[in-house]
Amino acid sequence: MDEKSGEYKVADMGLVEKGLEAIYIAQRKMPVTCSIIRDRFEREKPLQGIKIAGCLHITKETANLALTLQAGGAEVLLCGSNPLSTQDDVSAALVSHGVKVFAWHGNTQEEFYWCIRECLKHEPNILIDDGADLIVTAHKEFPELITSGKLLACQEETTTGVKRFKAMEKAGALKVPLFPVNDARCKNEFDNELGTGQGVISAIQGMHILMAGKTMVIAGYGHCSSGMALRARGLGAQVLVTEVDPIQALKAVFAGFRVVPMDEAVKEADVILTATGCKDVVAEKHFDSLKDGVILGNLGHFDVEIATRKLYDRASEVKPIRKDVEEITLPGGKKVYLLAQGRLANLVLTEGHPSEVMDMSFALQSLVSEFIVKKKNFRPGIIDVPEEIDSKVGALKLKSMGIIIDALTEEQFKYIHGYEEGT
Ligand SMILES: NC(=O)c1ccc[n+]([C@@H]2O[C@H](COP(=O)([O-])OP(=O)(O)OC[C@H]3O[C@@H](n4cnc5c(N)ncnc54)[C@H](O)[C@@H]3O)[C@@H](O)[C@H]2O)c1
Repeated sequence: MDEKSGEYKVADMGLVEKGLEAIYIAQRKMPVTCSIIRDRFEREKPLQGIKIAGCLHITKETANLALTLQAGGAEVLLCGSNPLSTQDDVSAALVSHGVKVFAWHGNTQEEFYWCIRECLKHEPNILIDDGADLIVTAHKEFPELITSGKLLACQEETTTGVKRFKAMEKAGALKVPLFPVNDARCKNEFDNELGTGQGVISAIQGMHILMAGKTMVIAGYGHCSSGMALRARGLGAQVLVTEVDPIQALKAVFAGFRVVPMDEAVKEADVILTATGCKDVVAEKHFDSLKDGVILGNLGHFDVEIATRKLYDRASEVKPIRKDVEEITLPGGKKVYLLAQGRLANLVLTEGHPSEVMDMSFALQSLVSEFIVKKKNFRPGIIDVPEEIDSKVGALKLKSMGIIIDALTEEQFKYIHGYEEGT
């Protein structure tokens, strides 16, 4: 471990060069965050004097968000939002750029929260979270940061985090202004569907299976999981969907998927992938029905969607057969292949969402940070990302791709916003 007290703690500073290569590869595919916004931030310094702490998956894309915020004048601190998603080479490269990083791959629960506390001790002005752990820890352990007025506002990157903050707000426990960036159109409709959707390849990455001809069960038909179902079908799998929401289930049916209860689906599955934000989706009661050789993976935020602890308890043997894949032998001899210990398989087995799609999510985070600093004085509670910022990111992305779209004429604008013209 390499560390400098209060400044950084990462696995190995010898990985800087490798990390810089990865950051460069992502940068070339993130023109909105890394060229259009970063160049303007460099000139205008809208975040001068501001400390921003992020609890995020430390990938090459997140590195580019950090560098854009830094270009805007911010001091940036980072800790990982999942013990297994931190890319150690990227962390080292960020430290070489002056970012204060407290993260390493495979940290324990205790170390995970130590890293969060190290960031919070610096009294940041903006918190960017992915899964609510940073902001909830601030509420529990750093009450003076919440009340001091130093903390201007927070942002949340993922569905599970937003759901938690909505529950906190309802219970009167949310004491900070919170922008649910996950819910902006430029995030939810692209990052979740396309990025997590493409995450089905983590199952291939893990066991090098041929997807064609396999029966693949996708749990959920929400933003992430509908993308996963679509891509699995594209690769030739026969896809079964499980749902608990009647409307989402109907959407899956009308998109041509077979929708069945998990109790039935497990009996047929060669691969089961979850992304629901719920727990025990593959529960202990399902273990006996699993087929020999089934691959189990989760792409939802927490490692509770597959009852992994129960699976380990039940196992007669747990054998790591390659990086991030365990062969679990159940009494009777049946073998189950678990990806990433039930943690976000796409971030652990592959490099997470492709840069092109994170370009939009992180452009939003950059512009929302600027908005927070400009406006200040928000009331505590959930505040939607302004529509202008969402549309701007969409327009910049199109521009970066050289795509031109039509604009409404004045008459058309009046027509769709009025009621006078009818039959
Ligand atoms: N792996 C990644 O890179 C990544 C990226 C974005 C989001 N996420 C996470 O993925 C999860 C899903 O996010 P989303 O944006 O798709 O949420 P969503 O709310 O759009 O979709 C979730 C769907 O799961 C269904 N569901 C809930 N409980 C279920 C159960 N027990 N069985 C079957 N279906 C059930 C819901 O009805 C809903 O349709 C969240 O935990 C989110 O934080 C992961």
